[in-house]
Amino acid sequence: MKNLFANRVLNNDTSDLDEIFKNSANPENISFAGGFPDQHLFPDDDLKQAYRDAIEQDGQGIFQYSSTQGLPALRQKIADHMATHADVQVSAANVLMTQGGQQAIDLVAKLLLNHGDSMVVEGPTYMGALAAFDTYEPTYYEIPVDDNGMNIRQLRKTLKAHPEIKLIYTIPDFHNPTGTTMSAKRRQAMVALANQYDVIILEDSPYRDLRYSGQNIPAIKHYDTEGRVIFISSFSKILSPALRTGWIVASDTIMQELVGLKSAIDVQSPNVTLAAINSYLDSHDIDEHVATISDAYRTKRDAMLTALDNYFPKNVQYTRPNGGFFIWVTLPAGVDAKALLNDVVLPQAHVAYVPAACQFASRAVTNGFRLNFTNSDVATITQGIQRLGQILQPVQVTVPTTALATPF
Ligand SMILES: Cc1ncc(COP(=O)(O)O)c(C=O)c1O
Repeated sequence: MKNLFANRVLNNDTSDLDEIFKNSANPENISFAGGFPDQHLFPDDDLKQAYRDAIEQDGQGIFQYSSTQGLPALRQKIADHMATHADVQVSAANVLMTQGGQQAIDLVAKLLLNHGDSMVVEGPTYMGALAAFDTYEPTYYEIPVDDNGMNIRQLRKTLKAHPEIKLIYTIPDFHNPTGTTMSAKRRQAMVALANQYDVIILEDSPYRDLRYSGQNIPAIKHYDTEGRVIFISSFSKILSPALRTGWIVASDTIMQELVGLKSAIDVQSPNVTLAAINSYLDSHDIDEHVATISDAYRTKRDAMLTALDNYFPKNVQYTRPNGGFFIWVTLPAGVDAKALLNDVVLPQAHVAYVPAACQFASRAVTNGFRLNFTNSDVATITQGIQRLGQILQPVQVTVPTTALATPF
């Protein structure tokens, strides 16, 4: 048979993701690999009741087709939440319900990227976003991330050298995978650069409400003066990922195009789920729920940081996040975290993490890995980090690197 698949499929290498899920699912392993919330923290009974309420109040034809943009009452609640939690004033007309943040990323990529178009990503970044972008075959420019988010000096240089860049993809709050948060100063500077170089910013912020320490920072969208920041978030990390419900906030012009694209893909997100989430939000204070899960996640984060302090060798560095799901570990230069995982860590310590390379568009950085702390209990976290620390003790090959990542 001829090769009938489009090039975008050939670009779509999911083997790293497949491996992560395989390692996570093996009960012999302690997995810090997946980006899963703790399922014991899902409000199961409240969600069941919310589905029942939504279906029983079926005056408005819940089982019928409805608008592509999604239930107006739910979009209004999201607009209100954006005002109180992200300092972003929008109306429900500027909110589009999506099937998770993942579909939101895909929609924005579909809106903006022709084959070969240039875009900026952080190095490292969310590998699911890379998978979505890859299918549109962009040219990537990778900008390193440090404790205050994307390196703005490097961004400025890159935009100046490549005025054809159309899109900046950033995860400013409790970044996946480093856990770091972009400072307010850098957010303002990024918007100013986007205005200067006529670029769209895609602000992906599913962890925003999960803050365990430090002060809230306004969204990048808060500083948007020209309608060029597209904000996306999701109920996956604060309620349940199985709801497959996220949202996009965008200007009128962009929204109109996104609605058209979504309509062509799946007509609408499942109305029963949107109505159930709306019922849940009518009957419960989501802030109280988020405070409860944040307390639990803070304890887990602290347990992992304490274990890292106690058991990791001094030539290994790690971030100290104020929220979210992840800690990023930087190994001494020259260590390949993927080979280490497959050859030593999995077989000897039975611990899984996500090695660096697949989280860089360039695949150029190998000496790091992502740890998830939300999906294990405290005893397991301590045990897993202790085992990992024992493996890493002899891995003292060269001087430690100070940079979190290097651009290519
Ligand atoms: C940064 C980031 N964006 C988007 C997503 C997609 O999440 P979902 O589609 O479940 O909303 C994730 C999930 O891990 C993520 O970490």
